[in-house]
Amino acid sequence: MKLKIALTCPDADAAKPWRNALTTQLLALGADAEIALWPERFADPDYALVWGAGQGFLDAHRGVKALFTLGAGVDGLLKLDVPAAMPIIRIEDGGMAAQMAEYVCHAALRHVRQFDVYESAMRTSAAGGGAWQPLEPRRPAQFPVGIMGMGALGSRVAQALQAFGFPVNGWSRSAKEIPGVASFGGEASLDRFLQASRILVCMLPLTPDTRDLINRARLQQLQSPGYFINVARGAHVVEADLLALIDSGHLAGAALDVFREEPLPASHPFRAHPRIALTPHTAAQTLIDESAQQIAHKIVALERGESVGGLVDRSRAY
Ligand code: NAP
Ligand code: GLV
Repeated sequence: MKLKIALTCPDADAAKPWRNALTTQLLALGADAEIALWPERFADPDYALVWGAGQGFLDAHRGVKALFTLGAGVDGLLKLDVPAAMPIIRIEDGGMAAQMAEYVCHAALRHVRQFDVYESAMRTSAAGGGAWQPLEPRRPAQFPVGIMGMGALGSRVAQALQAFGFPVNGWSRSAKEIPGVASFGGEASLDRFLQASRILVCMLPLTPDTRDLINRARLQQLQSPGYFINVARGAHVVEADLLALIDSGHLAGAALDVFREEPLPASHPFRAHPRIALTPHTAAQTLIDESAQQIAHKIVALERGESVGGLVDRSRAY
């Protein structure tokens, strides 16, 4: 039997490599599939793969056995009307965990080693030839990192930070047992987790429980001067509170990959802030080959009636 799979991506050019990779991976597992790129469509598709889906695509595929997202976060998808009984399966890692580890370690080390300070001093004083000024050495051991969200991505980041000598605290809904990581579980432990941390990294999914979680009261509890890294979603953060705490010196700065409004408007105060490093929501991108292989394995498992990982719990919204 030939599986019928519907696929939509915001960029039509991006859809073709996905179609090729998924066809190849399914064939390697002995499954034959026909993949339609939206707005081409089947009358009775088996599965749908979405990134940046619109309501029209979802309405046309209400009968599928499962909906696969091509990313880790499902907050965008859950804003739409997705039938409550339709299983949503997200990417688990898909090549993103290693990229997140690179991003967070880079941002944390850049701050600890004060590379940002050196870069700006060397530039601003170039005309006068001054500021050839090594600063007092600082070590990762002096900067305990608190990771909010110890899932597929956060747990990998924790390992990578430990390898550089950072003490690591992890906060998640349920406490974890990860060697060398001080684990904090649930809301009751959030204050203790924040007070034990100096660099805060947000790796949470965006849900009704986590929206606006990172506000003045929470950031104020970090050891000072602290630092903030956001690689999750912009709406986790009350931006005005973050700016105020950087300007007051409670936080030394921030590295931000995600924003409440994307693309970040040219006039936004983050844009020109000397102590905020910005990237355009690119901390970790889904890698097609790894992810197509993962999805192909899950489709074959579902066809055999087996359960698969990455199933979104609709009551928790992640
Ligand atoms: P995941 O595996 O689902 O992990 C989520 C973690 O957050 C889990 O440890 C979970 O706790 C914890 N959590 C959820 N709600 C919580 C709450 N209310 N209180 C405390 N902890 C809570 O997700 P992931 O694959 O690691 O991805 C995390 C997020 O990264 C995505 O949702 C997405 O927003 C973001 N992301 C960003 C980029 C980028 O380029 N910037 C790329 C990929 C992903 P439990 O373990 O107890 O369930
Ligand atoms: C990207 O932000 C993702 O959630 O995969």
